[in-house]
Parts: sequence; C-alpha cells; structure tokens
Amino acid sequence: MITNTELEYKGNLYPNHIVHFEQDNEKLSFTTENGVILQVTILRGSVIRFRYATDYNFEPDFSYAIDPDATLGYSTLEVTDTATEYLIKTARVIVLIDKKTLRVQISDLEGNIINEDELGFHWEENYEFGGNTVKMSKITQTGESFYGMGDKATHSNLKGKRVHNWVTDQYAYGKDQDPLYKAIPFFIGLSNNKAYGIFFDNSFKTHFDFAHERRNTTSFWADGGEMNYYFFYGPDMPKVVSAYSNLTGTPELPPLWALGFHQSKWSYYPESNVKEIAKQFRDLKIPCDAIYLDIDYMDGFRCFTWDKNHFPDPKRMIAELEEDGFKTVVMIDPGIKIDKNYWVYNEALENDYFCKRGDGPLMHGKVWPGECNFPDFTNPEVREWWADLYKEFMSDLGVHAVWNDMNEPAVMEVPTKTAPLDTRHNYDGHPCTHRKAHNVYGMQMVRATYDGVKKHVFPKRPFVITRAAYSGTQRYSSTWTGDNVATWEHLWIANVQMQRMSMSGYSFVGSDIGGFAEQPDGELFARWIQLGIFHPFCRVHSSGDHGSQEPWSFDVEITDIVRKFIELRYQLLPYLYTMFWKYSKEQKPMLQPLVLFDQEDTQTHFRTDEFIFGEKILVAPIQEPNAQGRRMYIPRGKWYDFWTDERIEGGKEKWVPAALDKIPVYIKEGAIIPKYPVQQYVGEIQIEELILDIYYKEGVENSEVYEDAENGYDYKKGRYSLRNFKLTGKSKSLSIQQFKDGDFVTSYETFKLNLHGLPFNIERIQVDNEDVVLKDMRPNGDNTMYIDKNFTTLHIIGK
Ligand code: GLC
Repeated sequence: MITNTELEYKGNLYPNHIVHFEQDNEKLSFTTENGVILQVTILRGSVIRFRYATDYNFEPDFSYAIDPDATLGYSTLEVTDTATEYLIKTARVIVLIDKKTLRVQISDLEGNIINEDELGFHWEENYEFGGNTVKMSKITQTGESFYGMGDKATHSNLKGKRVHNWVTDQYAYGKDQDPLYKAIPFFIGLSNNKAYGIFFDNSFKTHFDFAHERRNTTSFWADGGEMNYYFFYGPDMPKVVSAYSNLTGTPELPPLWALGFHQSKWSYYPESNVKEIAKQFRDLKIPCDAIYLDIDYMDGFRCFTWDKNHFPDPKRMIAELEEDGFKTVVMIDPGIKIDKNYWVYNEALENDYFCKRGDGPLMHGKVWPGECNFPDFTNPEVREWWADLYKEFMSDLGVHAVWNDMNEPAVMEVPTKTAPLDTRHNYDGHPCTHRKAHNVYGMQMVRATYDGVKKHVFPKRPFVITRAAYSGTQRYSSTWTGDNVATWEHLWIANVQMQRMSMSGYSFVGSDIGGFAEQPDGELFARWIQLGIFHPFCRVHSSGDHGSQEPWSFDVEITDIVRKFIELRYQLLPYLYTMFWKYSKEQKPMLQPLVLFDQEDTQTHFRTDEFIFGEKILVAPIQEPNAQGRRMYIPRGKWYDFWTDERIEGGKEKWVPAALDKIPVYIKEGAIIPKYPVQQYVGEIQIEELILDIYYKEGVENSEVYEDAENGYDYKKGRYSLRNFKLTGKSKSLSIQQFKDGDFVTSYETFKLNLHGLPFNIERIQVDNEDVVLKDMRPNGDNTMYIDKNFTTLHIIGK
C-alpha cells in the first residue's frame, strides 16, 4: 500500500486525520486537520455524493448536469463512530471513512466491497491557473470491467484504457482516437457480478485511467474545479444506468416522426435539388420523414438567414415539403459572423452577449462564415435571446426542427480547434474561464435552442440535434457522433459508440449512416443501413464531396435492400416508440450491450458487436465486406431467428447466415412485438390494425405497447394508450392477458396476431372466457388471425 508520505514527494497533497464531524440531515461533513472537508450526501439508499474541499472552502454548489427533477429520498441513515472510522449505513450500502486518511470504502450490506479508495482524494496546486488538479484513485477489484464514458470509439470494455473528456471537433476520427465530441464523465464498474457507477461531475477537462497505468488502480482527475462525484450502487447494471439517468435526466417524448428515417447531405441546395430528393423518395417508395438543410441554405453562412437565390421562398417550400410528408430540419451553428450589416451580430454586440477574452477583447475565431464572435450560452440572458431567435424560423416559416453543429465550439485554423482557454464565461452567475466552460458550451447552446424550438413549435413537440454534449444534454437534445468515415471500421465504431452512449444515459443517438467523409460502396451502405435502422436516431448524412449518398445512389439491388430495411424501421415504430417511452419515463436505455442485458454471464463482458434493441430484439451487424454471415454470441435464454422463426437456445456462439439482404436478428421468446403497416412517413395513413408478432414461450413474458397522438402534449394529460400483455405459454396452450391504461383511443379497432413457434395445432380459442368460432378470427394458414383490440384474455388451446 502506498502511504501518504510517499505521495508527498510527487507534489501531491492529501488529507490527513479527521478532527471534526458534523451531520445536517442527509449531509455529513468530515473535516481534517489540514483543512480538507469531505461532504457525503445521501441522495438515495444507493446513490451517494462525495464532494471534497481544500482549505476549508467549497465553491458554490452548481451543476449543469443534474436534472432539477431527479427523484431523491432515502429511508435509512445511521452513522456510527468507531475508534478508526466512521461507518455510514443506508438501506443499500455501508460507507466507511477512515479517520486517519479520509479514505472511503463502500460495501454492500453483506460486506462485499464494491468500491474502495486506493490513495483516495489528493490534489496538486495549479500554479499557472490557480485552483487544484483534483485527483481520486481507487483499487481495481479482481476481474473488474469498465463501461460507459459516452462516445469513446474504442472497445466497449474500457479495462486497460486511459481516456480524456474535452469536447473536440474531430473530423474523420479514427478508432481509439480520443477525445471526441462528447464529455460524459460517467463509468460503470463490474466485478463479481456486482455493478456500480461513478459520475465525476466536473466540467473541466477530465481524465480516467482504468487500470492502464497501474494494473490495480482506477483513477480519475480533473484540471480544475472540485473532486465531486456520485456513486451509484447496482448491483444490477441496469439499475446503475437508470440511477445515473435519473440524476442527469432523460428527454421527453419526441414527435414520432423524429424516429422515422431522415435524409441529409452537406448540402442539399437549391430548392429544386431538395424537391428532387424528396420526390425520389416518394417515387421509389422509400419511406422518409425528414430532409436536412446544411449550412448552404444560409446567406453567407449567417445563422438565421436564408440564401434567397437558392431558397427564394422558404415558407412555401417548407409547406410544400410538408404536404408531401417531409419535415424540414435546418442547421444552426454558434459562430456569428462579424458583420456590421447583420442583425444577429448587431444585437449580440449591443447587448454584450459575446464571449470575451481574459483581458477584455471579444473572443473571435474562424468558422464557415469567416471571422466570428461566439455568444456566451452559459449566460441565461443570452440563452433567452438565442431561444427567441428561432421564432421566425419555427412559427413563421414552419421549420420543424434544428440541428446544432460545431458547438464544441469548433474554431478553424488554430491548433487547439477551439476557443482560447482564457475566454471568459458567465456560467450561470459563476464566472469562469473556458477551461471550466468548454465542455458545457455546446450543451448550453443546444439547451437554448431546445427552449426556443419548444416554445415556438408549440403545441407540437420539439426535436433538436447536437454534436457536442456534456452529461445531462440528453434532457434537451438527440445527438449524432460527428464526422465519421465511410469505412467498415467506422461501421464497427458506430455500433460500439451507440451502445456506449446508450449505457451512458444518452440513448437518442445515431451515426452518419454510410459515413460522412469519403464514399461507401453499395455493400457498405446497405450493411450500415441494416444497423442504422436499429439506432434510435436514424439518418443518412454525408459530406457530399464524393457524390451522393441516397438510397438509390448505388444499384437497384442496393436500393431494394435499403428500402426493405427502412420499411422494417417503419413497421417497428410502435416498438421503438414504446422503447423511447420507457427510456423517458423509466430511464431504461434504448440499446443494451450484452453485458447490460446479462452481466451474470461473463461471456458478455468483452463482447462489442451484439446488442439488444429495446428489451426483446437481438441484433449483430455484419461488419466486413463479402460476408455471407457471421459468428455471434447469442445471450442466454431462447431466441427466435427473425427471418426463419427457428428457435435456438442461447448461451453460446453461433454462425448465423446473413446474405446481403439480411442482418442477424433474433427475437426473445415470449415477446410480443407491435408493428404498424409500412407508411411512407409517419401519419401518412390512418393505422387500421396493430400487428402483434407473438413469439411462443413456455412460461411467462410481459410486453408493452405505448401509443399516443404521436405529437403534442395531450399524453401528459392522460391521453395515451399503454397496453401491457402478459403471455403465458404451456405445452398445449397459450394465453395472453391485456391490461390497459390511459385515455387515448387508437385509430385501429383490431389486432392482427402473428403467432410464431406455436408447438401445437389450434383446437379452440376463447376470448374473454367465451369460445369463439374460429373462423370469426379470420385465421390464415400462416397462423395469423384478428381480434378486437379490447380483449382482456385470449386463450389458445391446442390439440
Ligand atoms: C460539420 C458537421 C457536418 C456538417 C458540416 C457542414 O463537419 O459535423 O455534419 O455537414 O460541418 O455544416
């Protein structure tokens, strides 16, 4: 064990013995003789905050990450003072604080150590900038694995890696490149089948070392600010993720169209080109809900303006596109062109809304329009102003949604790629430099955008996209993973990034399908679409430098494959919407890496490729050219091959065929998967029947279907429809009970049931305990039949 004295010579300072303890309800304070205060706050029985001050001095308590609506409250809190330590007991964990060193050890109620300090808190004074480099080191538990951390483009298990959080414009990034566009300082540790999470809520540049430098040590530190972290105890990983998501928030439901297929390029212009693309989708019957306008719609890249040569009448164009079922999404960047004839610039200048350097001058930097100034979005007044800049776009012109880009903020032609570190920020009344505000700058920009879009599209729901993000940004916006490349490796990266984001509390995420830089061939494009339809945000985007990247840009075979999969996306919309509702309401991640799905099975700990879409659909993308299939791991339990209905037992690897028109997909037995008929866009047709794909299981399985008006806020007043299906299969029968909640009346009257894997022939059927004449259910040879949507019990009895 390393002692504090050994540490000293390395320039580190560390707490010594506790001289004072104080309790104020859920807040416990331990002060050391040399002026360190550890404040422990019990937020829930399994959620505990640790905050350290040096020189007896805490900074004002403020965080952009924490959701003001987080649900907190604990039942048990006992503190015992022993000769050597303080022992804090909650309903879920025991925390020991060593009296001599202030080191912390956390165990479960059975005494199993979950997480413990190695050196614990220590720090180094920062002579250049003031403040401290604050550090924490923990003992890596035997066999411990690490997950989470946002968009890191590396193996899903972070063991042995060191990563950094500093949001960065990383054009054409590579595998293992770090940092990227997001700063999500949250990880999950798993050892001995017990998981915990740590969220280091510090917006300075942060660093995490997962047993990389020293095999038995996990450490994290920041270039400034406070050592301030939240500990979440599982022991189940989904509990850890949902506790973190509860603390930092989840988004409200988006409009359903936001979950459709979206087409983008840098850039579609002029208007005739936009129209042509839209027309092709309809002519070729490839469903699509949104079309994106990248920077070239603007007048000289000035935000909130239009290039009137290319878009003479945006309002008319947007209305015409809408007639045809297309929503228009426009880009807005943070850099405001320095231009005396530009109203946005003048307003910001007059009101003192731009960021300034340490010694006073305005911060400036080059972006698309040339030299720009940058609004200080960490100033609430600036956010309010920014929000209202959207008024004309949203309420007058009818723009449907906004994507915020370059909001790291990206600055061109400087080696740091961003604002100088002495740039000052308001930070909601806690003035600071860019060192502290950098990681939240984009978040605060998109927050202001979200507020504006939400206000001005009301009574519709907002939809916003951001590139940069800090923990908590998921409350405001969906996101994409930035400027990837059209390579097979990037398909692998996209798959890992989406899963990682999802387990980092950020589920509404997608990649630039097909790759942003360079040009995919048809095969890569098709394989990427097959994966992309299983990502919550599903958009093709490309730099447009190398030709076009639309579903028809390759050959007819590819177009047909792409159509088939986009159609599948539209069929699965009620399933996806239900996933979103569960994410929003119950903090359930929309994508589950296998380790999240089954942590007990150690086979899952180092898997990267397979994931669960929602709770019941297993997907494994094809990630190399010329593949006729792949080996994949099927998690424990029984699964149905989506394409053949073959039922297999999991817990093993398996070769799964997948010609170019297939991707390996399995459905969990017992699942009831809701589907809509194919539509060309959300709301194109009135849904006349809800298809329920029912996968027989011997035993019990629950499934849910959430529906509402697909936009607007009526659902908040109880106008939603939540169906809970309880499936019970026996060797000679299958029954389904339906429990309904909510006042929304769905447009359809009937369910079309597709029965998969029934092990018997049907002899008779009872609905709500009465025998029905089989032919009334319009049964088909292929095991489909119809039933009134209001049934409560369906009993299928076999011969
Ligand atoms: C950035 C974005 C990209 C966009 C381009 C032009 O590179 O990441 O999506 O197309 O800027 O606006």
